[in-house]
Amino acid sequence: MIILDVDPGIDDSLAIVLALKSKLDVIALTVSSGNIEVNQGSINAIKACEMAKKDIPVYKGATKPLFKEYVDSQDTHGSDGLSGMYYKVKKEAMDGAIDFILETIKANPYQVTIVAMGPLTNVALAIQKDLETMKQLKELVIMGGAAKIHGNCSPVAEYNFWVDPDAAKQVFEANLPNVTVAGLDVTYDILFSPNMREMVRQFGGELAEYVHNITQFYVDFHWAQERTLGCIINDPLLVAYMIDRSVLEAFDCHIDVETSGICIGESVVAFDIPEAYLPLYPYNAKMCMKVDKTKFFDIFFETIFPEHIEDYRLMKKRGYIL
Ligand code: RIB
Ligand code: CA
Repeated sequence: MIILDVDPGIDDSLAIVLALKSKLDVIALTVSSGNIEVNQGSINAIKACEMAKKDIPVYKGATKPLFKEYVDSQDTHGSDGLSGMYYKVKKEAMDGAIDFILETIKANPYQVTIVAMGPLTNVALAIQKDLETMKQLKELVIMGGAAKIHGNCSPVAEYNFWVDPDAAKQVFEANLPNVTVAGLDVTYDILFSPNMREMVRQFGGELAEYVHNITQFYVDFHWAQERTLGCIINDPLLVAYMIDRSVLEAFDCHIDVETSGICIGESVVAFDIPEAYLPLYPYNAKMCMKVDKTKFFDIFFETIFPEHIEDYRLMKKRGYIL
């Protein structure tokens, strides 16, 4: 049983479509303010469900970080969080994300996985409300942080941890079982290239048009901001990991998060901790440091566009992509 905790957001939306078109047992989405504020984010989440032709419940959660002033990323994802498409949707999201998470875990101890792809505010609030229940999570998989690579909000901080560093710190201090973190160290390799995007446009159809449209602003941002051609799609990598664990290789570590000062939001990650330091810095997570990007894109394209598997494989064979 999987709950996707999201802040859609363009890459979150691609992750939702990938998850719902796969065989994963996704039971609900929970939304927090992140790339865009939670109400618009919930609309975007519902749109992604519609595009995947799956009707699953969407719950609204945190409207702002625990303490830090909320900073969205409209500069990256567009004024609506989806390149300005301002989609209309047929249903409403419900309130009560935190209670939904806790009630679901209570009813299904050690069977629920949370895949957290936005700021960790919802997860932290659930821990604050009922740590013992949260310790009965089967697994917590997090998109966030950066262990040995530069950040995307400062030289050291990645957006999800930078937006709500206190939430991230509280999550790692809770010592939940089976926490795996995929940060920029591996997601920077996941470049949705111009050729890939053109291939999707050539596929045609409503879903291809959606993917092409929602990535436009993100592509323009990547060129303007860092002269990258294409766009980095972070969140779908975690869904691919849930589909096939060999996509990523994770290593035991201790993670803490800086909550103030010039390095606010920095994930401080220690590997290979000497025995003498373990009482102070216990292993509390696994950090993904290796990624098989070809395997990721095989999963991504063959799951989202199964009717175009042969086209995708021909483009790979001809060297147009990857
Ligand atoms: O830093 C990248 C992460 O921040 C992604 O999850 C993106 O959607 C934003 O939430
Ligand atoms: Ca996200």
